[in-house]
Amino acid sequence: MTHPLLDNPKRIAKVDPANMAGLISRLGDQLSQSAAAVTEADWTHWSEREFKNIVLVGMGGSAIGGDLARAYLGDALRIPLSVIRNYRLPGYVSSDTLVFASSYSGNTEETLSAVEQARKRGSAVVAITSGGRLAEQATAHGWVTIGLPGGMPPRAALGRSFGALLNVLGRLRLVDGGVWDLQALSVFLNKADEQLNPDIPSEHNPAKKLALALHGMVPVVYGAAGVMAVVARRWKGQFCENAENLAFAGEVPEFNHNQIVGWGLPAGSKEHFVVVLLASADDHPRIAERFSITREVFSQKRVKVETVQATGDNKLQRIFSLIQLGDWASYYLAALNDVDPTAIAVLDYLKQKLAEKPYSG
Ligand code: PA5
Repeated sequence: MTHPLLDNPKRIAKVDPANMAGLISRLGDQLSQSAAAVTEADWTHWSEREFKNIVLVGMGGSAIGGDLARAYLGDALRIPLSVIRNYRLPGYVSSDTLVFASSYSGNTEETLSAVEQARKRGSAVVAITSGGRLAEQATAHGWVTIGLPGGMPPRAALGRSFGALLNVLGRLRLVDGGVWDLQALSVFLNKADEQLNPDIPSEHNPAKKLALALHGMVPVVYGAAGVMAVVARRWKGQFCENAENLAFAGEVPEFNHNQIVGWGLPAGSKEHFVVVLLASADDHPRIAERFSITREVFSQKRVKVETVQATGDNKLQRIFSLIQLGDWASYYLAALNDVDPTAIAVLDYLKQKLAEKPYSG
């Protein structure tokens, strides 16, 4: 059946004046174009050295690419990679650490504070940014800068930031094998986009169907520990930022050991929530068993559940099939919520209030 808003391109474009739809559609292109920024960066002052660990400092849309890289690369990484979303660095960050400072705007204070600490400890720094103070610091201190094109909401630059990370890690030979194929991934995503974009009517569009199922509810998204839990986190972020819709994320099996018990009280609460299970062929076989029993438990508890299956011929395609679906679902949910998917007034307010109280940590 035709949906009066989601299937009316003019009405949907009206709630998206900055064209978030165009950015979501270009996820595949971003990934295939990401290598160029790494090749074009100025590596002349880079000195080869042995690293003991890798740290990515960043927040929100500029941090998630680090989580994805860590979880996707897994055993292929020669040394540990951690993602730090904080002002302060852990003690193990030293002159033996490769630090990625990832901030789309280049002005995020947590990231600037952490990278300044890294500088003082003598870490090697690679900045991933479109400008701001981070770009200035990078120039002043001779850090390698991977440039991101300007004018996007940071979360919409994920293809660029994730692709940049993989390419830098490959270039520095910190990854075994380097088997990813971002060109093939791009072709796969561009094809999949043909089924998800606003021109495809609701009855044939999985992202519109999902948004309609979630509308008016609080999604709680669960993925298997490892990379699918990162995808769940991305979905949570996109629902909150794009659709201004409260959402939560968790991981299996951990949630089977505590949170599943809490789906009951307070009385009346579960009517407001919908569970979304992200399933992939890469999940441990026991995760599939757990999803099946979890569905049974939720059916007894009368909790609404949606299960979404990753598609694609390899792990990277399956990861990004769900990233893409979640991005589009958050976009349609924004339309149903009548909010501009690009605007993030509350975040802007917070950043502006903090800027009024300068901090030099
Ligand atoms: O997507 C967003 O807009 C946010 O999550 C930002 O990424 C976050 O606030 C950090 O800003 P920046 O990416 O500019 O460092």
